[in-house]
Amino acid sequence: MLNFSFHNTTKIHFGEGQISAIAKEIPIDAKVLVIYGGGSIKHNGVYQQVVNALEKHTWFEFSGIEPNPKYDTLMKAQAIIQDNNVDYLLAVGGGSVIDGVKFISAAAKFEGEDPWDIITKGAPVKAALPIGAILTLPATGSESNNGSVITRDGNKLPWGSPLVRPQFAVLDPATTLSLSDRQISNGVVDAFVHIMEQYLTYDVNGKVQDRFSEGLLQTLIEEGPKALDAETKSDMDVRANIMWSATMALNGLIGAGVPQDWATHMIGHELTASHGVDHARTLSIVLPAVMKVRRDQKRDKLVQYAERVWQITDGTDEQKIDKAIKATEDFFNQMQVPTRLSHVDVDAEFIDTLVKQLEQHGMIKLGEHGDIDLAESRKILMAAA
Ligand code: NZQ
Ligand code: ZN
Repeated sequence: MLNFSFHNTTKIHFGEGQISAIAKEIPIDAKVLVIYGGGSIKHNGVYQQVVNALEKHTWFEFSGIEPNPKYDTLMKAQAIIQDNNVDYLLAVGGGSVIDGVKFISAAAKFEGEDPWDIITKGAPVKAALPIGAILTLPATGSESNNGSVITRDGNKLPWGSPLVRPQFAVLDPATTLSLSDRQISNGVVDAFVHIMEQYLTYDVNGKVQDRFSEGLLQTLIEEGPKALDAETKSDMDVRANIMWSATMALNGLIGAGVPQDWATHMIGHELTASHGVDHARTLSIVLPAVMKVRRDQKRDKLVQYAERVWQITDGTDEQKIDKAIKATEDFFNQMQVPTRLSHVDVDAEFIDTLVKQLEQHGMIKLGEHGDIDLAESRKILMAAA
């Protein structure tokens, strides 16, 4: 196992009715900015629960954060923060809202010229406004991690700081009942791929991390399809298991002390930036191709994945790997997400442009060995065509 330091400071309130807990979590003398997206929270009762819980607080609101949150939209919140001396941010929504709030939080305290420098030039985040989160879409893990992904002028880029990790997060599975099938699928697949990118590397004898990861993958394989099936989709246990899996997939626990490979995400971000493909749908296209092209480097873990996650025990190692890749694609198909570039109308001819975008964004040494260079990314994209 590799050395690691693990410290996750986000307090989780899990279960139905837990939104009321924000009343005690947010200091009573705080000036709160409630931040949300396009308005789904106004139709599913979440907004009203927030209003009720903040009855005794002073609060303002800012809405309109779009999926794949945009820098220009986020910067509009700064005037409200300054005009009202806001000192606490409450994010209510999915990964885009929470990621956006993280950027708003750091930008509000940024001393340099342009907060975009935090993302492109690594300008240090020395202070940030405290954040609380109410999660309505289990997928990204953003509710209890320090990462965020922001888009500006066709550039979709990740950044992070421990200062923007939410202080608390409310996870009420009932809030997910209003999600469309497409968003449920996206969430399950995003969480699945987060686990894979921390698991499918090389063996460092991290038995705890491996077993946690395998358990989470199996939970998503079992519960994901149930959340799409008319008979079981409203089952609160199904929703709860998916929600907790997605948080655990990217809260730092399973990734501590093991190598990681975020190539699928970095290549996927370029597809969202250029073609607007939903985040998770880029991952379901790229991951199987990564498994195929990186088969030699990932051989031992691919066999372990086949045996332990899919119970594929017959045949040679090569056959097990083939079957495991097929099982992964079948699972993605069952979850109704695409597995080829052609499924989202991206031509093989466009691969050159995607590779150029990766180069522009410095994504030239990806993977657990740092050896996925532009030529290797091209191979992966060709395998996904
Ligand atoms: O904006 P509203 O009206 O709320 O609608 C949203 C949005 O249209 C809707 N939605 C959310 N909760 C709902 C709901 N609709 C009905 N009922 C509910 N309960 O769903 C749509 C998509 O929301 P979004 O937040 O964009 O989805 P997701 O949670 O998948 O977030 C994706 C973003 O997170 C980034 C992605 O790159 C992408 O920008 N990621 C962030 C990560 C992190 N911070 O660690 C890691 C991830 O890998 C990912 O990159
Ligand atoms: Zn993701």
